[in-house]
This record gives sequence, structure tokens and C-alpha cells, in this order.
Amino acid sequence: MRIRDATYNDLPRVLAIERLSFAQPWSLASFRRELSLSFSRLMLAVTDTDGSTIAGYLCRWLVAGESHILNLATHPDFRCQGVGTALMTEAVAEARARQVSLMILEVRRSNFEARRLYRRFGFEERRLRRNYYGPGEDALVMELVTS
Ligand SMILES: CC(C)(COP(=O)(O)OP(=O)(O)OC[C@H]1O[C@@H](n2cnc3c(N)ncnc32)[C@H](O)[C@@H]1OP(=O)(O)O)[C@@H](O)C(=O)NCCC(=O)NCCS
Repeated sequence: MRIRDATYNDLPRVLAIERLSFAQPWSLASFRRELSLSFSRLMLAVTDTDGSTIAGYLCRWLVAGESHILNLATHPDFRCQGVGTALMTEAVAEARARQVSLMILEVRRSNFEARRLYRRFGFEERRLRRNYYGPGEDALVMELVTS
């Protein structure tokens, strides 16, 4: 498995994973917009030599000296095989390389798999945003100080 940046051609396959992963998925237009933003990076975990099999993706913004993780998903067929870990490893390594001292993300309070993954990287649960994802769906704000 290796990590590479997404191109417009990858977006249909990214969107398919998104729809399998979230009840309220991002649209194709949202992903297209990310590719047009200079401070956004959509990185893919790919499994074959030509890079066409997409196992998962992570989207982050680098703004105001902080790395914001906006989206992370692994195709259901590839879960629990280290794909999310590989994407997070790259995002944390990039933040350190660019001397970005704070990483931040929001996660559903009910998403125990994702919370465990982030905690393994040292992210700490800092704040609760009540009903952030809708009635009864709170968000936890998690942060990692990288330096
Ligand atoms: C959360 C999510 C991204 C995790 O992705 P993943 O690729 O399954 O993550 P990993 O495989 O790296 O880690 C998951 C578990 O598999 C384990 N694992 C990793 N490699 C493994 C391997 N080769 N064999 C067996 N288990 C393995 C990890 O130890 C981890 O277990 P733990 O959580 O008990 O510590 C994925 O479940 C997902 O896409 N969920 C839906 C979308 C979502 O909720 N995204 C997050 C929004 S904030």
C-alpha cells in the first residue's frame, strides 16, 4: 500500500467509498472543490502498483498553522487492515515536517472505531459540540499537539 494525492479522475471511486461510509456523504461537488483549494489535500491509500485501487482517503486543510482533518474513510472491504493508520501516519508526518504544531478534527461521539484510531495517534478529546451532526449526534473535538 502507498499514499498518493488524488486527481479529478479518482473522484468517482472516492465518492463510492464515501457513500458506503457515511449517512450524510459529501457530494462530488464537495470533493471537486477540495481539489481546487491550495490549502486542501486529498490523499489516497492505494493498493496496487498502478495506483488505481483506492482503499481509503483522507482530506485535510492546512490553515493558520493548523492541520484540520476533514474527512477520513476506508472502503469496507479494506477495513481493519491498517489503511486508516497509514493515512493518519502520513497526515501526522506531514504536519511535523511542515512544523504545524496542532492537528484538529471532529468526530461523532458514537464513532468508537474512529475515536480509538485517533487516540492511538495521541489525539485527545478536548471539547463536546452538542447536536453538531443533528439532534442527539454530538461531536467531539480532538486535538494533537505535534511539537
Ligand atoms: C474509522 C476508519 C477510517 C478506520 O479505518 P481502518 O482502515 O479500518 O483503520 P485501521 O485498519 O488502520 O485500524 C482499525 C483497527 O484495525 C486494526 N488493524 C490494523 N491493521 C490490521 C491488520 N493488518 N490486521 C488486523 N487488524 C488490523 C487496528 O489495530 C485497529 O484496531 P483498534 O481500533 O482496535 O486499535 C473506518 O472504520 C471507516 O472508514 N469508518 C467509516 C467512516 C468514518 O467513520 N470515518 C471517520 C470519520 S471521523
